[in-house]
Amino acid sequence: MIKLSSVTCKEMPIIGLGTFKLRGRDLVFQTLEAALAAGYRSIDTAAVYRNEGDIGESLKVLLPKFSLQREDLFITSKLGPKDQGAGKCRQACLKSLENMQTDYFDLYLIHWPGTQGKKPEDQSNIQHRQESWKDLEDLQKEGKLRAIGISNYEQRHLEELLSYSSIPPAVLQIEHHPHLVQTSLVSYCKQHNIHFQAYSSLGTTSDDNKLLKDPTVVTIAESYKRTPAQILLRWAVQQDIGVIPKSTNPVHIKENIDIFSFSLSDSDMDKLSNLDSQHHYCWNPASVT
Ligand SMILES: NC(=O)c1ccc[n+]([C@@H]2O[C@H](COP(=O)([O-])OP(=O)(O)OC[C@H]3O[C@@H](n4cnc5c(N)ncnc54)[C@H](OP(=O)(O)O)[C@@H]3O)[C@@H](O)[C@H]2O)c1
Repeated sequence: MIKLSSVTCKEMPIIGLGTFKLRGRDLVFQTLEAALAAGYRSIDTAAVYRNEGDIGESLKVLLPKFSLQREDLFITSKLGPKDQGAGKCRQACLKSLENMQTDYFDLYLIHWPGTQGKKPEDQSNIQHRQESWKDLEDLQKEGKLRAIGISNYEQRHLEELLSYSSIPPAVLQIEHHPHLVQTSLVSYCKQHNIHFQAYSSLGTTSDDNKLLKDPTVVTIAESYKRTPAQILLRWAVQQDIGVIPKSTNPVHIKENIDIFSFSLSDSDMDKLSNLDSQHHYCWNPASVT
């Protein structure tokens, strides 16, 4: 569990279920059912995933089934880039809460430093994300958000945010895995008490997953009698980095959370970190002003 800097937030599980590209009422239900059965208590979604409604509906049935209360879960959602800016951010967040049929989010993130429809270099991106942050601070003070943070922010975006925020961000969620090691960003976040949470830890959804097939990852997995996915997730959590692997396969869902009963040696941790090629499998925010 991770203690976040926010005073109103309970601890955040270091592992949660990712839900990017998880669509369709039945699949959402089956996936969440498998995840809750396997012990996941944290769910990561976003307005742009367009599954908040199905997640909310599924939880209405699944929480009683597993004898759980809303408070037993840690739910994260995110502000869509089209809704950046004063007032729009507030409305979008309230809409997401309504879609999810919940009174509060444990964590809410600005999904992207830019605004949809604006060029990455457009200076209005800066003003919009500042206005969004102010809306989030107000929503946190009102108790609708227990913790607030950002996603896909690079260090310069974080420096800017810290210069005006009255509530500092509790979490940065960004792509991170052995092919994209974010050493300086991780250490900047540590220094500023911002929890670093990785996304696409398994190389995201693709037909030809180069990360899970990386020969070094596969060899290390064989030596621990674990799977490549477990090695990649363990590598992150062993550095206190949060993970939110996404799977719709019940076997994978179970396997991905079974990473707390073994540890990687220092030399295997180093071998994995040395695979860094600064390769993004998902988004790259470098061009956003
Ligand atoms: N903030 C952002 O901008 C952002 C961007 C991307 C992602 N995210 C969040 O991070 C989450 C995770 O990232 P992601 O969805 O990009 O992908 P990911 O978790 O890196 O990878 C998902 C892929 O890995 C496969 N997989 C999962 N467990 C496996 C296992 N044990 N063995 C083999 N294959 C396995 C899945 O297929 P199966 O279904 O067949 O298991 C799926 O194809 C997202 O779902 C989302 O919640 C956030």
